[in-house]
Amino acid sequence: MYSEKVMDHFNNPRNVGEIENPSGVGTVGNAKCGDIMRMYFDIDEQGVIRDVKFKTFGCGAAVATSSMATELVKGKTIKEALEVTNKAVMEALDGLPPVKVHCSLLAEEAIHAALWDYAQKNHIVIEGLKEPVNDISEKEEDEEY
Ligand code: FES
Repeated sequence: MYSEKVMDHFNNPRNVGEIENPSGVGTVGNAKCGDIMRMYFDIDEQGVIRDVKFKTFGCGAAVATSSMATELVKGKTIKEALEVTNKAVMEALDGLPPVKVHCSLLAEEAIHAALWDYAQKNHIVIEGLKEPVNDISEKEEDEEY
């Protein structure tokens, strides 16, 4: 039911942990399943994400998607990181079962939440970035994925 890549990222998640004094940190959850994901970014003066770490209290697919999402944003600019959507994460993992698609939304929203925090701290506006929600189940109700 899960691809080899999902199993690999679940069994050996990349970039697990925390960053002390992060440039941005974002936490999102899904009240329906109770899963929570937190992402820490270290962003340099050029706006490049030099390091990223995550902690996920959640299902296997949430762990795998957060791991893959951190790999996809590491070394990227803020603008490029915004292109890492839940679909991009799922593609990189060779897909997820339909009931697990919502787990990848946590990863996308955690990236946005960490970038939002970075923008707030630095008093800047990141073009194309909307204020993230704390609970993605609110979003799922009014949008189709
Ligand atoms: Fe909720 Fe996977 S079941 S994030």
